[in-house]
Amino acid sequence: MRVGFVQNKPIFAGVQDNLDRIEELLKGQSADLFVLPELFATGYQFKDMEESRSLAEPVPGGLTTSALTAIAKKTNATIIAGLAEIEDDQVYNSAVITGPNGYIGKYRKLHLFDTEKDCFQQGNLPLKLFDIAGAKVGVMICFDWRFPETARSLALMGADLIAHPSNLVLTHCPQAMITRCLENRVFAVTADRVGMEDRLEEEPLNFMGQSQVIDPNGNILVRASMTDEEVHVVQLDLSLARDKFLNPRNHIFNDRRTDLYPPPS
Ligand code: ACM
Repeated sequence: MRVGFVQNKPIFAGVQDNLDRIEELLKGQSADLFVLPELFATGYQFKDMEESRSLAEPVPGGLTTSALTAIAKKTNATIIAGLAEIEDDQVYNSAVITGPNGYIGKYRKLHLFDTEKDCFQQGNLPLKLFDIAGAKVGVMICFDWRFPETARSLALMGADLIAHPSNLVLTHCPQAMITRCLENRVFAVTADRVGMEDRLEEEPLNFMGQSQVIDPNGNILVRASMTDEEVHVVQLDLSLARDKFLNPRNHIFNDRRTDLYPPPS
């Protein structure tokens, strides 16, 4: 499987310009799956729920999903991308999964970070896997990394690969995702953005780039810069994620002592 990411530098509220830029960045690129950042077409730092509502779109049916589907047709690739979603007047920090044959599904961020709590509802859909080019793909968004249950649950469901649209501001994430991959023996594609936003008083946000693809052995297959728009594609050997043995005597799931762990609360 060939998987790629786009690391972009969105203009806040410049949805059409940001969509055009993604199309430009993907021109001539080919992969089975491209992962784009969280809120890649709107920008990140909303002031309140009214503002996020004003830029949120139905999924499917909105401009961004339609534009991504058109790009998916042109590149013959599935795309997973973060966007502000509205349904029944509720706004979610979501990801859409769409491909050359149209809309496939969505994910709503479960763990909202900081001021996102003023701008979005918590995700309310169960974790789910999507079949993409022979791979089982789970989706989580940015700060979900800080809750290891997210990646663990996806891995226990059978994920080969975790698509991770992000707007990283916490510096530990790129290294922490190596751990998420090691402890679950999965691939992860983190697609981050670059640039800064300074829309709330005394809360400037510097987005740290470093989009990356990590393999089940914790190797960094590719990592982007902290400053530039970039696109990278790598080939994955999915059999690595399907072998949960570390050595002939240690299986990362079967060796868990669930008989002695406290019940999940
Ligand atoms: C984040 O979850 N975008 C920090």
